Amino acid sequence: MRARITGTGMSVPDGILSNADLEKIVDTTDEWIVTRTGIKERRMAEEGQSLSDFAIPAAERALEMAGVEGADVDLVICATISSDRLFPATSCIIQDAIGAKDAPAFDLSAACTGFIYGLNIGTQFIEAGRARNVLVVGGEMLTQIVDWSDRATCVLFGDGAGAVLLQATEQNRGVLGYAMHADGALADLIERPGGGSRSPISHAMIDAGLANIRMRGNETFKKAVRRLAEVSVEALAECELGPRDVDWFIPHQANKRIIDAVGQRLAVPDGATYVNVERYGNTSAASVPIALDELNRAGRVEDGQIVLMTAFGSGLTWASAVVKW
Ligand code: ACO
Repeated sequence: MRARITGTGMSVPDGILSNADLEKIVDTTDEWIVTRTGIKERRMAEEGQSLSDFAIPAAERALEMAGVEGADVDLVICATISSDRLFPATSCIIQDAIGAKDAPAFDLSAACTGFIYGLNIGTQFIEAGRARNVLVVGGEMLTQIVDWSDRATCVLFGDGAGAVLLQATEQNRGVLGYAMHADGALADLIERPGGGSRSPISHAMIDAGLANIRMRGNETFKKAVRRLAEVSVEALAECELGPRDVDWFIPHQANKRIIDAVGQRLAVPDGATYVNVERYGNTSAASVPIALDELNRAGRVEDGQIVLMTAFGSGLTWASAVVKW
């Protein structure tokens, strides 16, 4: 039994925050942001909007494409580090909205790698024969948790959600292989330190800026390039494939320089790498499913093509999945 992606969907806020807008908020320039990251604009939710406002439509679009009713979904996974509430899980809110009555639902915290972790876990449920239809959502509202006075991070992130429906198939297609890793010794590189049990919510915690994202960007950058290339090769090798066999390479959209460096290191075929970071910035767990949905809806992924997805994020975590479309 294999797990095939039969539906994709995405939803992003209408509001666009451009680099010119950011120039009015922090000491930065369009030129710095474009040269260092490739980002030109990102989507930003309005006050009062939350993750489920985007995660639910993304899920509904994936179900509609697959032609599957919510009632037939037997597992809901939502990868996020910016859920609607600290608990319950946003996956439960999605489960109710789509009518997947009594289906198990859980959130998964692996930051930017969360969607690929979720895809691989959903695949396990299907391959083990314990589920036939698994909904995997990746979504974030990171503009709500950045420090708007920290120019090194606030220019990077954007909001949105993407989703896929995984379905059981007897055919030799779908998720062919994957690799997943973490290194908790580097937990301090990207973190949101406050609000959990180590630094519970308090005025002092908020005043100290602990409720916002902190990142040591340059150190993260170097780790990301090496790990993304390694884990991609590892996942491809599991399927007895190499980088030259890849028709579409969908890397986590954090930074155009990281994407270019990984593409060069891997030597995937020219034109195989999909990039949309200029329009959305880093949407963390949403970045890979948003990119996949854009490609898929444009009719650019053909039957039988090999799609390599790879991501890297806080934890540190990193993972890849190889899909035969
Ligand atoms: N505008 C202008 N100058 C800036 C800005 C800004 N927005 N931000 C930083 N600078 C300055 C710094 O202060 C520094 O100045 P200095 O040399 O006088 O000290 C200079 O630019 C260079 O800073 P670096 O941090 O070395 O810049 P770098 O080239 O590394 O780019 C960036 C920074 C874009 C953050 C990059 O390191 C990066 O993309 N890192 C990886 C991010 C990532 O992949 N994160 C993982 C996922 S996130 C998650 O899991 C939630």
